[in-house]
Parts: sequence; C-alpha cells; structure tokens
Amino acid sequence: MRLRNIILFVAICSFTAYYVYEPIPETIEERWKLMLTNSFFRTLSHLADLCESVGLKDYMDVMYVITVIEGIVPVSDEFVKVTEEKFDGVEVVVYQPKQKGVDTDMRRAVIYLHGGGWCLGSSRMSPYDLLARKIVTELDAVVLSVEYRLAPSHHFPVPYEDVYRVVKHFLQKGVLAQYSVDPERIAVSGDSAGGNLAAAVSQQLQKEPGQQIKLRAQALLYPVLQALDLKTPSYQQNQDMPILPRTLMVRFWSEYFTSNKALFRAMMANAHNSPESSRLLKFVNWSAFLPEVYHKEYNYSAPAVAQGLGDDGNGMDGPSELFADPRASPLLVPDADLNSLPKAYILTCEYDVLRDDGIMYATRLQAAGVEVTHQHYDSGFHGALMFTVWPTDFLIARRMTDNYIKWLKENL
Ligand SMILES: *[C@@H]1O[C@H](CO)[C@@H](O)[C@H](O)[C@H]1NC(C)=O
Ligand SMILES: *[C@@H]1O[C@H](CO)[C@@H](O)[C@H](O)[C@H]1NC(C)=O
Repeated sequence: MRLRNIILFVAICSFTAYYVYEPIPETIEERWKLMLTNSFFRTLSHLADLCESVGLKDYMDVMYVITVIEGIVPVSDEFVKVTEEKFDGVEVVVYQPKQKGVDTDMRRAVIYLHGGGWCLGSSRMSPYDLLARKIVTELDAVVLSVEYRLAPSHHFPVPYEDVYRVVKHFLQKGVLAQYSVDPERIAVSGDSAGGNLAAAVSQQLQKEPGQQIKLRAQALLYPVLQALDLKTPSYQQNQDMPILPRTLMVRFWSEYFTSNKALFRAMMANAHNSPESSRLLKFVNWSAFLPEVYHKEYNYSAPAVAQGLGDDGNGMDGPSELFADPRASPLLVPDADLNSLPKAYILTCEYDVLRDDGIMYATRLQAAGVEVTHQHYDSGFHGALMFTVWPTDFLIARRMTDNYIKWLKENL
C-alpha cells in the first residue's frame, strides 16, 4: 500500500516536471516561474484545440478565458478618476489625474491600445488598468484605453477602424479642451497587436486631409508589424518560446482576416503570398534590414509565392490584399510614407517571434530620418511587460515599465 502511494507520487511528480519543464534559455530570469506560467497557457491552448476539434467551441473562444481571468471593473481611486465613455461610438476607458496639475494646467495624453493578437485582451484587465494608472500618476497625463472590437467576430479592418475613430474624435480642439489636454503632447502607444494598431494609426493619420492636430510620439512595445514573412530569423529562433509560440501568432494573423482555416495553413507554411503581395516583400527583407548579428546564422530566401490561394472553393475573398494592407502590416510602406512620422519608441525582446518586426521597423524609420529610441531586452520574452500582477509578476516587467514611462516623460 505504502509502496503504491510512493510510486503514484513519483509518477505524478515526474509527469508534472515533464509537462512543465521546457528548454527555456538560461539567460531568461525567473525561468521556473516562466515555465509554470507558460504551462498554464499551453494547457489552455491544448484544451482550446481539443474543444475546436470536437466542434464544442472555437479555439479563440476558449483562449478568451485569459481575458476573463484577469478582468476587472476599472474604478476611480484616490489619485485617478476613471470613467467609461464612448468616442464616436467606440468604448473607451478614460483615466484622468484627480489633482490639478502643479506647473501647467494643460496635460499630456496617451492613447493606449491593449495587446492580445486582435482576438483577446481588454482595457478592463488588471495589467492594463495598472499601467494606465501608473502613466496617469507619473506623467500627470490623461490615458485613453480603447476597447476596440475583436476578431474573429470582427475581422480586419474593424479593430483598426475602431481605434482610428477614437483617435480622430479625440484629436479635436473642443474634445481635448474638455480633458485639459495639450494638443501638442499626445502619444499613441500599445503592446503586441496594440503596437500594430498604434503604428498603423500613426501612418494613416498623417495622410488624413485637413488633420490639424498631430501625434507627438508613438511608443510600440514588441509590436506586430507585418504578415508577409512569418519565417524571419526571430520566428525561426523562437517558434516554441513561452507565451507566444509561432503557431499562436500565425493563428492570430489568420483570424484577424478570416475564419477560413486555409489561410492559417498557408501562413504556417509561409506560402501565403500572392504575386501582388510579393511585390512588397522588399520592405520586409530581413537580410537587408536586420543588423548582421541577427541574421548571419540564417540564409535569406524570399517566401514562396502561391497562385490563387483562395481557389480552394472555400470562398476566401482576396486575403492577400488584406494582409498586404499597410493598416494591417505597417512595415509595408515606402520610405516616403515613413519620413514624417512622429518620433518613435520601439521595445523588442530577444526571445520573441516578433523581435525582427520591431527591429526592421526601427531600422527603416531611422533610415527615413525619424527619431527612434530602440530598447532591446536581451533576456526579454514576448508579453513580459504585462506580467506585473501576483503570482505571475516578473522583475523584467518592472524594468520595462520604468524605462517605457521614463521615455514618455522625456519625450512627450
Ligand atoms: C534582400 O536583400 C538582399 C541583401 O540586401 C538582396 O541581395 C536580395 O536581393 C533582397 N531580396 C529581396 C526579395 O528583396
Ligand atoms: C546557410 O548557407 C551556408 C552556405 O551555403 C550553409 O553552410 C549553412 O548551413 C546554411 N545555414 C542554414 C541555417 O541553413
């Protein structure tokens, strides 16, 4: 009897260790904590796959649990007044300082866009709520946290357009005056898919005829910036890294455009480009835009070009036009569209499939003459900045937050 219990105990321990253990690089701090955190994400993802394969629920519906677990109701506190409003029909959580400003009565503002692959996430999650409050108190700024609608219920361009509507609405003299915001000191910022939306909005706003009030800065935290080449060196190096493995990122990309699984399969094989989109591959040529250290161990070959991805009878409606749209892939624009962009802060992490998207954008913006601060974290992993809440709080999240806020303080 006792022996049986011991055997059972050992079996459970070794199963747990086997399941939780992952070969995470030694340079990443708090490795065991990250393994445990990620084993939750992996389990959820397996469950989501299972539910989808037996037809119970869609993958993303199950993954949405992450958003629910961290969900909160944003309320005012001693220092910050929180209101839920609608800007041109789009939900926004507005955070304002309670104290009157000390040296000026005009405030800075940050329009913040949460991450989650356009499919998950919410302004009403504790890490985003905490970050917004920190920006408010440290910068004496107003923060708008935009609750844009999500895929797959709302495919591209809906999430983008929601954000654009909010930005357009906010950047009006009358509206800014209501919130005592200085029209010269407004930034747009976001992490991951939110960084994608922030970069896209910054580009499109400068083309808007008659737009008088402009953005001062864009702060992009491990942003997603292009859908053409999903086998950059960072996609290859980090395909099984915690939090955002390549499969999940490819899934987010394909779900952003369509619920047709043919696009997911083509993107997994990096064979989704059409003759039209392939003309834009020059803008994501990592052999040209990455410093040598990042690509020297990889041999560049341009992604395969398929004829008629949509011809499998599933009625895919020109997805290549969609993923080559700069509002979805802001890296795909010529230099002439980059040179008058607001100054940029770009955060990248070594252990992140999206590392090269961020580095290439930093390279291209700099070459176009835009002022860029690029902070690369050698021990960083995707999503790190959001791990600020116990029990999944990481030291690196604190450093990232401090550096990001310092940049905003000095540049906005
Ligand atoms: C990518 O860049 C390399 C080096 O700059 C160049 O030799 C190659 O032709 C480029 N390929 C594409 C598809 O732009
Ligand atoms: C790249 O090409 C070189 C020379 O052809 C080869 O020796 C090397 O193994 C290749 N590297 C990869 C990662 O394919």
